[in-house]
Amino acid sequence: MKVCKTVRQIKIEINKAIRAGKSVGFVPTMGYLHDGHLSLIKRARKENDIVVVSIFVNPTQFGEGEDLESYPRDLDRDCRLVEKEGTDFVFAPSAEEMYPHGYMSYVDVEGNITKQLCGKSRVGHFKGVATVVSKLFNIVTPNKAYFGQKDAQQVAVLEQMVRDLNFNIEIVPCPIVREADGLALSSRNTYLSQKERQDALILSKSLIEAEEMIKNGERDAAKIKNFIINNIKTVEYADIDYVEIVNAKTLEDLDQIQGDVLIALAVKIGKPRLIDNIRLEV
Ligand code: PAF
Repeated sequence: MKVCKTVRQIKIEINKAIRAGKSVGFVPTMGYLHDGHLSLIKRARKENDIVVVSIFVNPTQFGEGEDLESYPRDLDRDCRLVEKEGTDFVFAPSAEEMYPHGYMSYVDVEGNITKQLCGKSRVGHFKGVATVVSKLFNIVTPNKAYFGQKDAQQVAVLEQMVRDLNFNIEIVPCPIVREADGLALSSRNTYLSQKERQDALILSKSLIEAEEMIKNGERDAAKIKNFIINNIKTVEYADIDYVEIVNAKTLEDLDQIQGDVLIALAVKIGKPRLIDNIRLEV
């Protein structure tokens, strides 16, 4: 496995592979990898000739007062993990490499899709994501790119961006990976104290119970939403950012549970803000 720190280095490697007729699978990450990321790499490994993983904590997707400085980082550990999964190249640029002095261009996916859910409280977040992913797509030129469904809104935004900007890249959404007790894996789980980690289980538990209500015939989105909110409020230090029930592709609010449904939530448990969701076809 080769670790490339500059755009020039990784482009040379990828051009060689493409000239040799190889397909490229790409897993963009911000590092501090967990089994969720590794599941994306495993899938990419199965479906492509070469696998590229990027590790870059992207400053443009963090707002003021967010955790850019404290975001966990450990490149050596990440490299060991991805090498075991058969990754061919790691692209781990510095912030200056990606955004050199005088940098000016941004990609903004406008409208409901970026304004709802996380877009409401994290203004500018998806502009940062769309910008860095566009740059990474132009650098790595993959055939397929793999993203976790835990960031369901990110997947919807990037699918829209790929359609709108004619990227010849297939976005492959992959299932959420959970701990045995239901907690969705996230690099930010490392911020949780033992007590907070226990409290955080209310998120997946509420989603599973909501799914059960729907399976039993409940179709009133407001009732399901209130059920989840009241459930979460039983945890003393849970601070709800949002609980929303939307169409999974357009992210438009649903009154009735019908079609491609996404139930998504973001809740602060102590310091960390955690997101989770379920997607169901009704
Ligand atoms: O999902 C993430 O880790 C990031 O948002 C991504 C896609 C790597 C862009 O920085």
